[in-house]
Amino acid sequence: MNDSRLKNIFGDAYTEDFFSSGSIYSQTLNEKGILIFNSFIGPDGLKTLQNEANELKEHSYKSSSEYNVYISEYDNAFSADSPRNRIMSTSKKCIPNDLIPTQSILQKIYDSPLVRSFFLDLLDKDEFHPYEDPLSSININYYDKGDALGWHFDNSDYTITLLVKNCIKGGVYEFFNDMRYKNDKEDYDLVEKILDKKVKGIKVDSLEGDLMIFKGNKSIHQVTAVEEGERILVTFNYNEESGVSLSEQSRRTFFGRIK
Ligand SMILES: [Fe+2]
Repeated sequence: MNDSRLKNIFGDAYTEDFFSSGSIYSQTLNEKGILIFNSFIGPDGLKTLQNEANELKEHSYKSSSEYNVYISEYDNAFSADSPRNRIMSTSKKCIPNDLIPTQSILQKIYDSPLVRSFFLDLLDKDEFHPYEDPLSSININYYDKGDALGWHFDNSDYTITLLVKNCIKGGVYEFFNDMRYKNDKEDYDLVEKILDKKVKGIKVDSLEGDLMIFKGNKSIHQVTAVEEGERILVTFNYNEESGVSLSEQSRRTFFGRIK
């Protein structure tokens, strides 16, 4: 690997050749809605990341948030219990980007032109920029016993995550692939079945060190409550345009501050 700052971080399979061939995975991502790169981070890098996340945890901000699956305003045209308005909830702890040391492996990965061009090719995008605000580009999320991420569709059309630590029981990612629209309209009937637990989604077994990329805008997803142990998940967040900040409301909710 040319970039010496990235030496000994990635798993053996993640060579320069791998990073220059992102586009070969695009079709699979589009068809399956998800891609998992196993052992993306090698054992040494993983140990470093786990130590770092453990040290930072005491500075994390604990949030509980409530929303509907569309992450949008209440719609008076529907009842409170409708799939459109039903309340979901998330609780977790979060470390914003400005508390992550600049020398962190996470920052190196995020800033690496090699890795970024891999993501760009894979997601068929032209440009990726960090968030304008100092908090939102890289986040470390901690889910302790009882913490969960309720059903929702993401606002952005893709999400890039790295599992740093897996919990012992619970904390399972579950999704329904590309089911949001039916005849170009929101498929509320299916969402209702999902929320009422009448259908089961695809459960994803991911392991520590795995990189996961998913298209969460058309695929409803959740992470079930952690029952034992602790789950630590990093999100790498990019923007297609420069100068974009995460909304003040979201920053307040997840970081407890806006700068
Ligand atoms: Fe999501």
